[in-house]
Order: sequence, then C-alpha cells, then structure tokens
Amino acid sequence: MPEKPFTLPSFAKINWFLRVLGKRTDGFHELCTVFQTISLCDELTFAPANELVFSCDSENVPNDETNLVVRAAQMLREKYSVKAGARIHLAKKIPAPGGLGGGSSNAAVALIGLNKMWQIGAARAELQAIGAEIGSDVPFFFCGGTALGTGRGTEIESLNDYSENFLLIVTPAVNVPTRDAFAQLNADHLTNENAKSILKICRNEAALLRSGQTELKNDFEASVFAIEPEIARVKNKLFELGARTVSLSGSGASVFAVFEKNETRQTTLKALEVEKNWRMFAVATVSRSQYRDALKLNN
Ligand code: C5P
Repeated sequence: MPEKPFTLPSFAKINWFLRVLGKRTDGFHELCTVFQTISLCDELTFAPANELVFSCDSENVPNDETNLVVRAAQMLREKYSVKAGARIHLAKKIPAPGGLGGGSSNAAVALIGLNKMWQIGAARAELQAIGAEIGSDVPFFFCGGTALGTGRGTEIESLNDYSENFLLIVTPAVNVPTRDAFAQLNADHLTNENAKSILKICRNEAALLRSGQTELKNDFEASVFAIEPEIARVKNKLFELGARTVSLSGSGASVFAVFEKNETRQTTLKALEVEKNWRMFAVATVSRSQYRDALKLNN
C-alpha cells in the first residue's frame, strides 16, 4: 500500500449540448449529450487509515454516506472485500450543486484513487460500471475530454477533442435539483426524434460544433429558466456583454459562455462584479490526454 498521502484533481464538466428524448420504463430519461471536461477542479487527497474517514472544506457538501465520495468508497470496499480504510479529504472549488458534475467527478476520482491505494487492480471498465450505479454523470469522468453520452448518460463514446480557451462559467445562487428539472421538462421542449436518429443527429452536431457551425442546445433551458428566471438573466447578460455562445450546463444552475478573446472575457468579469450572488470562473477546456495525464489513467 502506498505509504504517503497523494492528491488527485477532480475536474468539472459542462455539456456542449444536451437533448432529452423522453422517459424510459425505468423512470430515467433517455439522453444524448456531449460532455466536456474543464479546468475548474476540486482536489481529493487520499491517505492510508484503518477506518474510512471523510472530510471536506466546504459546508455545502455533506460528509456522511450521502456524499458520493463516501458511497463510492463503501461500494468499492464491499465489492472487492477490502479490509483497509482510508482518510479522504475533499478540497472543494466546483459549486455544489451546479450542473458542473462536481459530485460525480469526485465519485469517479475516489474510485480511481482508492483502486490505486488499496491496490485492487480493477480495470477502468469495472470502476466505470460501479460509477454508473452511483450517478448518471459518473462514467464520463473515466474518459474526460470531449465525449458523447447516451442512454441514461452512462454510455460513453470518446470524440475528437474540442477546445476553447476563453470560457466563463457563471453560477447564480439558486438551486434546481436535477430530479425536479427532469420532472418539470415540458414535453413540448423535448427533442422528439427517435433514439436511432437522435444518435446520428448528436454525432453530426458534435462534428458541427468543432467547425463552429451549430448552436448549442440544452433541452432543460426552457423549464429551468421558467423555474428560476435568475438563470435566464445570467444567460442574457453574458450575451449582452459579448459572449459568442452561452448555454446552461446540465440541469443548471451554472451557465457557460464562450468568448473569442480573453479581453472580452475580462471586461465581462469586470462588468459582472456588481452581481454579488453570482460565482464566476474563467476556465479552459481540458483535453482527454491532459485529463488522463492529470489522473494518471493508464488502462
Ligand atoms: O443519476 P443521477 O443520480 O444523477 O440522477 C438524479 C435524478 O435525475 C434521477 O433520480 C432522475 O430523477 C433524474 N434523471 C433522469 N434521467 C437521466 C438522469 C437522471 O430522469 N438520464
């Protein structure tokens, strides 16, 4: 077992686009989304211990079994009959909740870190399957970069990396629980092509995205903006201030904007200083190879 504590980054994601196709018989919704890792990240530190002990520097994050890191650790321990414990500390920067996949990313990184510390030797696919039981966004974090997510969001297919250097994430102080966002989806706003053709459309859109020829689209926007008009105000403001494109991430409340130039992004940040309840993060995309290097993923 490694003697020394070690730290891994836990990156956030945005969704370049997200289409909801309709409800499945298991109660989940059929999705088609393009995920993207971004440079905003938390940090997880792992140290050997006899018990499982979890701590976090943020008050907004539970530190009992409802935390996805603790769930991930317990599931891994049970599945591989691990006797050892671990001391895990989470340094939080990703707004929680916020549509940036923070909790899901933390769960995936916990599985990766503990697989290493406990010397389990589980393949990435095995960890990914445990991840899918924890949450629909978790499997993507075993891939990183730009990737297509289908089914519940757990079927991941890597795509050629799409990169943007001048992103701005804005998270207003409102919360739309994912479950409510799905429940409030108005059938009129769902993408209603059949599953096969939507997959084709999504792949095409991912290709168009790279050539800058498509609008970003998130099927949650209409219903989420209706529940929390403050999020719509964020989007409008970012457009007004010169963003090239703006979209909701996941089911919100975070919105991301793409800028052509750093200068425009900087003037936007300055102009938004008056919005005391909005958290802002100037970030860039993280490619698959950068992601895998940072997490030392080699299988
Ligand atoms: O899988 P996850 O825990 O992230 O999902 C949270 C909630 O969001 C689910 O309980 C479900 O209500 C909804 N959901 C859905 N369809 C998906 C993913 C999530 O309806 N594909």
